[in-house]
Amino acid sequence: CGITAYVGHGEALPFLMQGLARLEYRGYDSAGVTILNEKLTTVKRKGRLANLEEELKNYDMTGHVGIGHTRWATHGVPSNLNSHPHTNAKNTLSIVHNGIIENYKELKEILLSKGYTFQSETDSEVVVQALDYFYDGDLMEAMKKVLNCIDGSYALCAISTHEPDRIVVAKKDSPLVIGKTKEGYVAASDTPALLAYTKDVYFLEDNELALLTADSCDFYTRTGESVTKELTTIPYDLEAAQKNGYDTYMLKEINEQPHVINETLRGRLDGHTVTLPKLDGIDFKNFNKVYFVACGTAYHACLCGATVLEKATKLPVMTQVASEFRYNDPIIDEHTLCIFVSQSGETADTLAALRLANKKGCTTIAIANVLGSTISRDAKYTLYTAAGPEIAVASTKAYTTQLVLLTLLAFYIAQRLDKPVDTNALDQLKDLPTYVEKIIKDEDIFASYAELLRDQHDCYFIGRSLDYASVLEGALKLKEVSYVHADAYIAGELKHGPIALIEPGTVVIAVATQPNVAAKTISNIQETIARGADVILFTTDDQDAEGIKNKYNLPHVDPLLTSVLVAIPLQLIAYHTAKIKGADVDKPRNLAKSVTVE
Ligand code: G6P
Repeated sequence: CGITAYVGHGEALPFLMQGLARLEYRGYDSAGVTILNEKLTTVKRKGRLANLEEELKNYDMTGHVGIGHTRWATHGVPSNLNSHPHTNAKNTLSIVHNGIIENYKELKEILLSKGYTFQSETDSEVVVQALDYFYDGDLMEAMKKVLNCIDGSYALCAISTHEPDRIVVAKKDSPLVIGKTKEGYVAASDTPALLAYTKDVYFLEDNELALLTADSCDFYTRTGESVTKELTTIPYDLEAAQKNGYDTYMLKEINEQPHVINETLRGRLDGHTVTLPKLDGIDFKNFNKVYFVACGTAYHACLCGATVLEKATKLPVMTQVASEFRYNDPIIDEHTLCIFVSQSGETADTLAALRLANKKGCTTIAIANVLGSTISRDAKYTLYTAAGPEIAVASTKAYTTQLVLLTLLAFYIAQRLDKPVDTNALDQLKDLPTYVEKIIKDEDIFASYAELLRDQHDCYFIGRSLDYASVLEGALKLKEVSYVHADAYIAGELKHGPIALIEPGTVVIAVATQPNVAAKTISNIQETIARGADVILFTTDDQDAEGIKNKYNLPHVDPLLTSVLVAIPLQLIAYHTAKIKGADVDKPRNLAKSVTVE
């Protein structure tokens, strides 16, 4: 979910709506706003923001104070009633909430016994009813009492007709940023929602509240002590978050990769030495193992990063999906280095896994893309990819910049452990942007491969070693945006089951870039061709791939770097397949850019 809030001398609605548009990537099954102008006017609609915009034409929504919300359903189906904001029966209070109130059933029981009625099935509605219960002329005080009753995560904004000059906001385990504008103060779940109005922001920390009026912004702890905060200036501009002439954000972001890979490398390679000064204080000889933890695409980046790190440092490395790690009682202690990767820096499972590692005394490093995101504040050390804002739900540029940064990190740790790092590999790292640019120019070839998938329900990806991590990501990308069912297999496992699925016309996408196993993968491909498969192969020109029509030769680079190059054609195949199928490329059904709930 995403939230927005405005209190100032100008009109609230334009800010709320543009903010929600920029937050739609956080979820988009319903949206709503409340404007305070003597009374509260709340309008909410199921579906995309456009539905809300249409509905708003029927209302007078002028006013200087307001709150907005775009929802991704957790409790209660997407519907008008389950949409936020939620108001009390007297229509004197309105709230928006992002997060999950874990004890909402218990609280609802109590409130029902006190005569409150509920309009929605959501966990969030208990907040407004409880606010009503505690309200005694001071919204801030009532909010503090509510926070003492609720368990779970929240970013909350509340307004009241009794105190029409203010917004009370609170945060715990869900992000909230406050912006200082010329007209007043604004708040939102993420900085892109603020950028059209300001670059000057305050990051609210967990268990803090803020009281915003048109001319002031005061911060407090939950026990009421006042907190002093510094303004941070965001280095992105809004232009960076727009489409730049491409038809979709996904295509724009694919095309940005040469640039953002370069930016991610910038200042981090000094000749043949990797420089990551933020990590200079870590004693890497202290570690006897390394864990990589993340979700989704970031997890695939971890699988690649783990392979590179293990080969470069000879340290034992493990990789786990965050939702497993957090419940698997992992064997970790102060001699474990834990690396957490997250584009948004807000993924609930990744944050919980990080907190567990912190608790167990591990050294924790976050690889994040969003400046000031929660992960960067919770990890002991943070390195940023320089992908810039990624808007398309399916991750592309964040993934390749994660691969580049994880490779730099692996080589950095190897150097700190006095292990030799191949100078050719370091030189080729610098050349990656040029290679990526060259591959993107072959977009037409990848678009023609996508034609093979036009009438397919299924597609199989195969690879070995590092290429297996690449095909896992290729398959994820394809299913996310085109809805073609895609699975990735270790090529050597084909004969142990998946080959039963191959029939004439089945599309198999194979990646064979690792010199020690490429020939093996290619012979697995021949087995699928013998059963009628249409094969697309990504390899290098020194591999003998007789009889394979759709063969694309990738540039020769060190085998540890190939995952960055392979990613590009696989992204473009997914993109063009989605276009052919008429899918909404940037906003695939049922997915959210940032999953801030478990
Ligand atoms: C969601 C997104 C994926 C992303 C994953 C992890 O599922 O749709 O694209 O890879 O979350 O997100 P993070 O922000 O932690 O990298």
